[in-house]
Amino acid sequence: MGLKGPLHGLIILYNPTFFFFCTLSCFIPPSPSPSPPCSVKSTLLEVSQDYPKRRFTKSSILYAFNLQWTVMSEMTSRTADVMRVSSHCEVYEPCDDSFALVDALLADQTNLINHDPKVCMEIGCGSGYVITSLILLLKEKLPNVHYLATDTNQIAARVTNETLQAHGVSAEVVCTDIASCLEERLAGLVDVMVVNPPYVPTPEYEVGMEGIASAWAGGENGRSVIDRVLPVVDRLLSEKGWFYLVTLTSNYPSEICLGMRKRGYASRIVVQRSTEEENLIILKFWRDKDEESVDKETSSESFVKQFSRSLSSFMEKQWR
Ligand SMILES: C[S@@+](CC[C@H](N)C(=O)[O-])C[C@H]1O[C@@H](n2cnc3c(N)ncnc32)[C@H](O)[C@@H]1O
Repeated sequence: MGLKGPLHGLIILYNPTFFFFCTLSCFIPPSPSPSPPCSVKSTLLEVSQDYPKRRFTKSSILYAFNLQWTVMSEMTSRTADVMRVSSHCEVYEPCDDSFALVDALLADQTNLINHDPKVCMEIGCGSGYVITSLILLLKEKLPNVHYLATDTNQIAARVTNETLQAHGVSAEVVCTDIASCLEERLAGLVDVMVVNPPYVPTPEYEVGMEGIASAWAGGENGRSVIDRVLPVVDRLLSEKGWFYLVTLTSNYPSEICLGMRKRGYASRIVVQRSTEEENLIILKFWRDKDEESVDKETSSESFVKQFSRSLSSFMEKQWR
């Protein structure tokens, strides 16, 4: 997520622009209405008109602080703004899992930019919060990337388009099962794939049901959709492709990594987050060029042990 709250405040306090605006605020008369300023331009106009009055009051400082806050928020909004994410009762709203996935992308932003992807894709886009955030993360440095997003839910496709539009960005949004109608066209071309699948363990019959239940119902061990997604991702990813996947501990992520390892992928945990309801793990996969290490480490037992060790050390670091 973008910089918010106390951290944001601290950055503002240490920012020289803040002092500039504070100085500027000496010349701003107390505002008759407490509403925050709409734009820098209009405020500067007010400043120039009232320049001779030169009054330094508490409310003018607050006014300037507000202005600086607005400007900084705009400058630092590297991810989608939840207030501008469109919604519908039949579409999954951005939640802890969506935020954890975007945090993983944020944590990897520099690597993603250096990775220089040409095609980025999300499977199961829901409200469009994640694909919009990915675009915002990359668009300044990489303006020519092609973005795609799919969802089985037709309303989600519409809502995603609205979210993209509200952020002034665009992507090709397709209503399809996983990526079925795109597989031929995109085989071996996707450089970055992100998936927050329906992962909640549920009875198998709930998977793919009409309505909002299809957003979370993951069948046995929450793996029904995940296990269908993995071979598709393998076919779509380019040689240098990266794949970010949201999982729960109850999905047996070590097994998922082992399965991907057998397909030639290395993996790591990018974000681990425990909420009241779930223990989320965001995994990243990439093709491992070192064939030998793939052979050596495919012994299930050693791999699962190794994964559990890295998960506990990851959790320990977060708790410290
Ligand atoms: C957990 S929600 C995630 C939504 C969004 N990506 C986010 O992180 O906020 C899972 C999404 O996958 C979609 N979905 C479920 N099964 C799918 C399938 N077979 N193919 C494509 N999308 C699917 C659901 O409609 C839902 O929008």
